[in-house]
Amino acid sequence: MRRHSLLLLLLAAIAATACGGPFPQTTLAPRSDLGAQVDTLFTSIFWWAVVVFAIVEGLLLFVIIRYRRREGGPKPSALHGHTALEIGWTLAPALILVFIAVPTMRTIFATAAPAPAGALRVEVIGHQWWWEFRYPEIGVVTANEMHVPLGKPVQLEMTSADVIHSFWAPGLGGKRDLTAGRITRIAFTPDSLGEVAGQCAEFCGASHANMRLRVFVESDSAFRAWAARQVTGAAVPSRGSPAERGQDLFAHGACIACHTITGVPQARGTVGPNLTHVGSRTMLAGATLPNTEEWLRRWISNAPSLKPGSLMPAMPLPDDQIAALVAYLQSLK
Ligand code: CUA
Repeated sequence: MRRHSLLLLLLAAIAATACGGPFPQTTLAPRSDLGAQVDTLFTSIFWWAVVVFAIVEGLLLFVIIRYRRREGGPKPSALHGHTALEIGWTLAPALILVFIAVPTMRTIFATAAPAPAGALRVEVIGHQWWWEFRYPEIGVVTANEMHVPLGKPVQLEMTSADVIHSFWAPGLGGKRDLTAGRITRIAFTPDSLGEVAGQCAEFCGASHANMRLRVFVESDSAFRAWAARQVTGAAVPSRGSPAERGQDLFAHGACIACHTITGVPQARGTVGPNLTHVGSRTMLAGATLPNTEEWLRRWISNAPSLKPGSLMPAMPLPDDQIAALVAYLQSLK
C-alpha cells in the first residue's frame, strides 16, 4: 500500500513538472478582442460548471455519509416518484442551459460580425501544407508568416486551394475552416505586440501536423516598413556571386514550375509559396523549420523527407548547385 502511494505521488510530481511553460498555443491568454470575448465566455461558463459541480458532489457526499448503511439500523423506505423533485431537477438544468446559451449566442453573433470599415484585409489560402497570405490592398503576397499592425482591425478572408483546412491562432481567438469555393471570415484587433503561434486545426492529410503558422503583431511603423519591403521586387544578386549562379539555376530549373519570384520573369508558378522575399521569413516548410542555411539546404535536397507528402519533390542536385540556390534564396530578404 505504502509503495503504491509513493509511486502515485512520484507520478503526480512528474505530471505536475511536465506542465511548465511556455505555452505558445494556449487558448487562455487572449491577445485580441476576439480572443478576449471567447475567453470571457469560457471563464463564465467554467464558473457555472464549478457551482454545479460543488452542489452535485456536495449533495452526493452528504447522502453517502449521512445515509450510509449502519449495523442494526432501520431499512430505508422505498420511494416511488416525487413530483416536486422531478420538476425541480428538470427545471434546474434547463435554467442553467439558458444561462449558458444566452452569452454563447451573444458571443457567436459578436465574433461573426464583419470587421469595421477600413480594416486590413488579408486573404488566407490553405494549401497542403502551407499558408498563403495575400494583402490585396497593399499588394503583398507571403507564406506562413502573417504580419499585422497592433490595435488595427484585421479581416481574414479565407479559402482553400485543395482540401478543408482550419485557421487556428489561439492567441487571436477563433478557429474557422477554410473550404475550397467558399469564403469564411475571422475579424480581430490584436492588442499586444509579439508573435502568436498557430497551426492548421483540421486534419488535411499526411503533413497536417506540419502546417503551422506565425502571426507577428507589430507597431504601425514596423508593419509599414515590413510591407514596404515586401512590395518591392526581388533583390538582384551582385555579378559573379554564388547568389547570381543560384538565380540562374532557379530561373532555368524545375523551381519555376511552382514558385513565383517577382523580377524573375520565368518564375511565375503558383503551386508553391511566393519566394520573392523568402529570406525575410523566419521559418520554412509550413513554419516547421527555421529558415537557416542548413535547413534550407536539407529542404531543397529532400523536402519529402522533412515533410511527408510534400508536393516539393526531392532535388538530386550536386552540392555546389544546392549551395548556390541556398545563397540565392537567402539573399531574397
Ligand atoms: Cu491543413 Cu490540417
